[in-house]
Amino acid sequence: MVQWFRNSDNDSTRKELTRRGFDLGWISEDARPAMPDRETVQQRWHNDQAIMLPGILTDVIDSYAVDIASAHQLMEKTLNGAEIAPQIESEPYASRLNPKFPLISALFEEHDEQCIEKLMFDAEKDGEVIAEELWCKASWLSFHDDDASMRFRFSFGMEGYEDVAADPARQMLASELTDAIFPESAAITEHEKLNQLLAEMVGSKPVYTERIIYFNAPNGGAQMHHDVERGHLGVVFAQLSGSTGWLAMAKPVLIDEIRAFLALPESESALANTLPEPADRQELRELASDRAALSLHMDQFDHELSEALMDRCPEFIQHLFDRGYGYILGPGDVLLMPQRDLETCVWHTVFCLGDDPGEALSFALRTI
Ligand SMILES: [Fe+2]
Repeated sequence: MVQWFRNSDNDSTRKELTRRGFDLGWISEDARPAMPDRETVQQRWHNDQAIMLPGILTDVIDSYAVDIASAHQLMEKTLNGAEIAPQIESEPYASRLNPKFPLISALFEEHDEQCIEKLMFDAEKDGEVIAEELWCKASWLSFHDDDASMRFRFSFGMEGYEDVAADPARQMLASELTDAIFPESAAITEHEKLNQLLAEMVGSKPVYTERIIYFNAPNGGAQMHHDVERGHLGVVFAQLSGSTGWLAMAKPVLIDEIRAFLALPESESALANTLPEPADRQELRELASDRAALSLHMDQFDHELSEALMDRCPEFIQHLFDRGYGYILGPGDVLLMPQRDLETCVWHTVFCLGDDPGEALSFALRTI
């Protein structure tokens, strides 16, 4: 189990939870979790519970060391201000992209302030264009000056408007584009044991789409969110380098825990540090008194009241770790998160642990 502490107490096994300037405690594992058996994996998946597969990729991770090092280099050069397109047009990328994925353009989207650079590709076969507007988009994970977390996301078409699930052929080409730029993707896609486990879990051959390569950096990570999208069943997250700390639980469970925490007498003083306005605390309490209202509020783009509690209140974060929803991932570890629908999906929050940014793969899981 992952244990939460207020301080480090000079214990080097404790890792700091700091995100975007907020100090949210320290965590350590009292023991490495055991590999769940097939039955437990299936049971947890169908009960909308996160599933950690500790060390499942350890046997292959070394064989991708060169690719992981290249990915780190690409990330670091990008952080230092280098444009991505010229990097992608040289080796080791050029020979893997050509002739199938010609780079068409590089966009710097002004309407999206988090966008670093968006690379647009065609897909060709025998010299004929078979798909257009495949893209790899590099973005910051936040606007915080001291958070260097970034990601490379792969998809196609009009972002936010396209029904990507309706075009599996193009979706697969976007996945192949990921393989060409980040061949370490095969740590997931070609891993026999993992694929067998997932095939049994979802009842058919797993397919990995809507891929994201993450570099969570110190002081960064992701706020509490879900990843429900039409056409996919959940997320497979694999840590390849570095380390991340997680909280992950189904939305109804999270709602239960918010209500349980707010019922504690000590919650008022804890909350006062995060939501200093008494009216805000009152409004959050009123929302939480009605499960449906709280659920609806959490689904709003702006859900600052619950966000303050979930992302910035150390005592609530402690509450969730104490209740057993915490995970620590290192190289070779995988976390599965079912995303059945908006009501049942696993919400999750991510922290970078340690002093170095790490690479991780986050792939949507679907079946053919
Ligand atoms: Fe996510």
